[in-house]
Amino acid sequence: MIISIDGPAGSGKSTAARKLAAKLGIPYLDTGAMYRAIALAALEAAIRLKDEAALVEIARKADISLDCGPTHTRVTLDGRDVSEAIRSMAVSQATSYVARVQAIRDILVEKQRAIGKRLGALVTEGRDQGSVVFPDADVKFFLDAAIEKRAMRRYQELMADGEEASFELIMENLQERDGNDRKQWAPLLEPQTAIHIDTTDSNIHDVVEKLLEEIRRRGLLP
Ligand code: DC
Repeated sequence: MIISIDGPAGSGKSTAARKLAAKLGIPYLDTGAMYRAIALAALEAAIRLKDEAALVEIARKADISLDCGPTHTRVTLDGRDVSEAIRSMAVSQATSYVARVQAIRDILVEKQRAIGKRLGALVTEGRDQGSVVFPDADVKFFLDAAIEKRAMRRYQELMADGEEASFELIMENLQERDGNDRKQWAPLLEPQTAIHIDTTDSNIHDVVEKLLEEIRRRGLLP
């Protein structure tokens, strides 16, 4: 069983996907972490983020491994734990440059499909999981929320991680990333068959219950 959860930054999809996977007892795949790890490698190598050929080279060489558990995602880049480092604002911003490069998307899409094939059952989360990577997913969800609410969630996450954060800057950053995601590079495609859930006024418990209800309705739960 493959369940895809797509949506913009701060829509609550990561937490929802993680909790849903734990409830179903199947693995969870955080595909944003893969793009983030490549962005971190690029920043560390001090290459120009507009140099697409150099970014692709980094993506080809980077040895990324993911351990997506019920409470956190551990990410290693060339054997080093970068789980915290990939969540900084600097990396979030740099990731936009990485995610717009089609050759990098092709590399990661292939890796994600290989993971799906190997695991057989998973909850996968990102921007293009139901549309591009797993068009035959058994259930597709698309989560969204008002931008102010999404910015507040990001702000609280960064504060909890002890990062310096400004709400205004996060709003600007989100607006820019939404623009990138939705228009120019178009990975944020909402499949027609996806179940659209607005999480603006819902808590995470209610969101996960809604997801479970839809899966149950399709007869996919024992
Ligand atoms: O979900 P996130 O914030 O960790 O995603 C980080 C960035 O990667 C974000 O700019 C969107 C991009 N991304 C993508 O283009 N495709 C995916 N499947 C997952 C993330």
